Amino acid sequence: MSEIGIDPGLLEEARARLKGAVKVAALTGAGISAESGVSTFRGSEGLWEKYRPEELASPEAFQRDPQLVWEWYNWRRGMMIDKMPNPGHLALANLESTHDFTLITQNVDGLHALAGSRNILEIHGSIWRVRCIDCGRQEVNRTAPLPYPPACTQCDGLLRPDVVWFGESLDSDLLARSLASASRAEVMLVVGTSALVHPAAGLAWQARRTGAYLIEINTERTPFSDDAHAVLTGPSGQILPQLIG
Ligand code: OAD
Repeated sequence: MSEIGIDPGLLEEARARLKGAVKVAALTGAGISAESGVSTFRGSEGLWEKYRPEELASPEAFQRDPQLVWEWYNWRRGMMIDKMPNPGHLALANLESTHDFTLITQNVDGLHALAGSRNILEIHGSIWRVRCIDCGRQEVNRTAPLPYPPACTQCDGLLRPDVVWFGESLDSDLLARSLASASRAEVMLVVGTSALVHPAAGLAWQARRTGAYLIEINTERTPFSDDAHAVLTGPSGQILPQLIG
């Protein structure tokens, strides 16, 4: 066992599978950013322990009280603004230079791009993008906090965070591209996600069905662990650099 509790044989097998593959995909979740100081959603320290998603992250909540929702997003933007990528993000960015690699992320924090990844599908949106609820115009805005009410420069409509809320569908083009990447991957990495939120979690099983070798990296077991070929237990900021090297 290594100091983070991984069977060296399993790590070596996973490394060899990755090295031998051409097409690789990864699905990441909040856990990959935990070592950068970004809160996860579930677990004892998670955001959904302290806040009710339906009161803050749903279209109904925004309709009822847009200011409250913006206050919460401004608080989250403020927490994320100075966060930096960790060695896990950087290791995944390196995979782009050696493989045909697609990075599917549920995270809205923008840390994968900051680490240098380019082929990223942000399936739950970005906390650094806003969208007009009237004309649909999107814009990148890293101001934190955004003065309330944030108004569209084109039509003066109210801007909302360009993230996917509970009860909303994922962008169909992003989902189709994610499914295609998962389906053609020879190796799929599933990193720092509780694998509870669909359709995102389904992408990992899709890769499994279509023949990918599955590597899960997480500090805990998830509903996905029994179906993974290699379960590497520990912090992704330590394991990914060892796996990708
Ligand atoms: P969760 O908070 O549900 O899960 C985080 C996962 O990361 C857990 O399985 C932890 O065990 C694991 N973890 C924590 N620290 C880790 C570390 N250092 N290294 C590796 N793993 C670690 O976050 P997500 O799975 O991303 O949706 O949640 C999915 C979606 O639910 C989010 O995108 C968000 C949320 O509601 C939307 O906002 C639409």
